Amino acid sequence: MNHPILTAEGVDKTYPSREGDVSALRDISLTITEGEFVSLVGPSGCGKTTLLRILGGLLQADRGGVHIDGQILTEPRRDIGFIFQDPTLMPWRSVLKNVTLPLEVQGRNGHEHRKRAMELLGLVGLLGFENLHPHELSGGMQQRVAIARALVHEPAILLMDEPFGSLDAITRNQMNLELLRIWNATRKTILMVTHTIQEAIFLADRVLIMSPRPGHIQATLEVDLPRPRDNEIYYNEDFAKLYHLVRDSIAAA
Ligand SMILES: Nc1ncnc2c1ncn2[C@@H]1O[C@H](COP(=O)(O)OP(=O)(O)OP(=O)(O)O)[C@@H](O)[C@H]1O
Ligand SMILES: [Mg+2]
Repeated sequence: MNHPILTAEGVDKTYPSREGDVSALRDISLTITEGEFVSLVGPSGCGKTTLLRILGGLLQADRGGVHIDGQILTEPRRDIGFIFQDPTLMPWRSVLKNVTLPLEVQGRNGHEHRKRAMELLGLVGLLGFENLHPHELSGGMQQRVAIARALVHEPAILLMDEPFGSLDAITRNQMNLELLRIWNATRKTILMVTHTIQEAIFLADRVLIMSPRPGHIQATLEVDLPRPRDNEIYYNEDFAKLYHLVRDSIAAA
């Protein structure tokens, strides 16, 4: 089970700008094993989105490399799913047609895929909403459509960039429970960026803490809390200890 599926070695990234070069990432190395749920936290502007884009093959590193299952990553791959902070749904397409979009782009159409999309809409609790349009859904429901869409082409790895950042605390908590349920059912490898320490701990097997820019991995924390997890875990003494460790580690960075 401890098979490394996603690795980065010595990744550097600098952006050129009119004000001079901006060094975003410095010497990032990490290994994520198959089926693992990893959270990534760090101050705003430390390079989290940049790192996620590099890990997803959407952006090239200046130095160092990323390997998926031992293969060097040079471009986006079908087996990596991306969920952005904003659900970025197509407003003129129905919920169902939004979910099947990645398959259409890949030239895969047909009954089988519609069935798969409907299964996923069931998994994210949106059966009965498939013919509505995005503007007829709440923010949380739209984000769940984005999750179903990211899963439809069966990616082995899911990269999530603050997917619940725009949701209120209660919806966000529901989405966390939902995400754990989906992860349990699918056992994808997930790397998720979040600004919320509680969320990072609640979801993950491991929390990676990034330093301010140029971002590097400042600390790694194992979350050895039992699963399955529910809201009771917030009252757990070990949860409180982990919370303080992550907070102190961010402060020290
Ligand atoms: N396309 C770009 N061109 C130039 N500079 C960029 C670009 N994208 C990001 N940067 C710079 O790189 C640094 C890291 O940005 P990035 O978006 O990766 O941070 P982040 O950790 O995701 O921040 P946040 O938590 O606010 O989303 C920032 O200083 C930003 O200004
Ligand atoms: Mg970001």
